[in-house]
Amino acid sequence: MVKVQNIAVLTSGGDSPGMNAAIRSVVRAAVYHGLKAYGVVDGFNGLIKDEFVELGYSDVSNILQTGGTILGTARCKEFHEKEFRKEAYENLNKRNIDGLIVIGGDGSFTGATIFSQEHPIAVIGIPGTIDNDINGTDYSIGFDTAVNNIIEAVDKIRDTAASHHRIFLVEVMGNNSGVLALNVAAASGAEEVFMPEKKEDMEEIRGKVERAIQANKSSIIIVAEGDQMGGAKEIFNYLGEYDLADKVRISVLGHIQRGGNPTFLDRLNATLYGEKAIVSLIKGKSNLMIGHQQNKIVSMDLKLALEKKSIGNMDYLKLIRKLSVY
Ligand code: F6P
Repeated sequence: MVKVQNIAVLTSGGDSPGMNAAIRSVVRAAVYHGLKAYGVVDGFNGLIKDEFVELGYSDVSNILQTGGTILGTARCKEFHEKEFRKEAYENLNKRNIDGLIVIGGDGSFTGATIFSQEHPIAVIGIPGTIDNDINGTDYSIGFDTAVNNIIEAVDKIRDTAASHHRIFLVEVMGNNSGVLALNVAAASGAEEVFMPEKKEDMEEIRGKVERAIQANKSSIIIVAEGDQMGGAKEIFNYLGEYDLADKVRISVLGHIQRGGNPTFLDRLNATLYGEKAIVSLIKGKSNLMIGHQQNKIVSMDLKLALEKKSIGNMDYLKLIRKLSVY
C-alpha cells in the first residue's frame, strides 16, 4: 500500500468538456485533505519533460464552467517506452509525488497501468472522452456536452434539409466507437445511423434513401467517422453510383463537437469523480477507475477499462428504424 503525500493530475488523449471541472475537484479535494497537488502539462509528455505546476485552491477558481483543459493534453508516443517512463517517474519522485490521477480514455489508462506496475506510484483513472466507450463505466466526462453540441447542429441542419427535401449525411466523431452516433441518432430523430461496430446492408439503405427522395421527404443520417463504409464521403459516393447524390448533402461536424462549456451532467460527474479519486488515493488504493454504474459513482479495477470497448445500446438501432418507417 502506497501512502500518498503529494499528488499529480494530468489530462490525456482528446480533450473533453468537464475535464476542467474534474481538475478543480481533484485539486480542491487534495487541498481539503492536506495533500500538495501538481498539474502536469500536456499529459504524459509533461511527466517526461518535467513540466509540472503546483496547483492551490485559487489556481482552479473559475475553470469549472470552461471547456477544454487548462493543463493541455496530448497523445504521447514516448510513454510507450520504458526509458521515458523511468524519466517520468524520476520527475515525480523528486517532488515526492506518489499518487497520479489520469483523466482520459482507455489508451491513457493502458499507459498508467504499465507505469504503476514498474514504479511505486498509485494511479487512479477518471474517464474523460466524448466517445463514452470506456468499458466498466456507463459515463465518461464530456459525452453529454458533445451529444448536446451535435443535437444542436442537427436541429439546424434539419431546417435546411426539410426546406430542400434533402437527405443529409451528418458525420460525427467516433473513430472506433459508435456510442456517440447511436445516442445522437436516437435523440435527434435521425432516420439512419452508421457505426464502426456494425456493417450496414447498403441495398436496404439505398432503398430507404430512394423512397425518401421519391416521397420528397428530408432525412438525417448520422455517420460515425469510423463507420465500416469509411465515413460520410464514402456513403455519398456509393449513393452517387446509383444517381442518388443530387438530393444528398454531407455535413462533417468536426471538432466543434468537443468544445464549449460543459453541461450540468458533465460538471456534476466530473466533480464527483475528482473528489472520489482523491479519497481513493488517501485510502491507499491504486489501479482503480472511478466511474458510473447504475446511477452510482463507484470505483473499479482499472484493468476493466482495458479489456474491451463499451458499445452502445443496440436496441436504439431498432428503435431508430422503427420510428422512421412511413
Ligand atoms: O475525443 C475522442 C475523439 O473525438 C474520437 O472520436 C476521434 O476519432 C478522435 O478523438 C479525434 O481526435 P483528434 O483529432 O484530436 O486526433
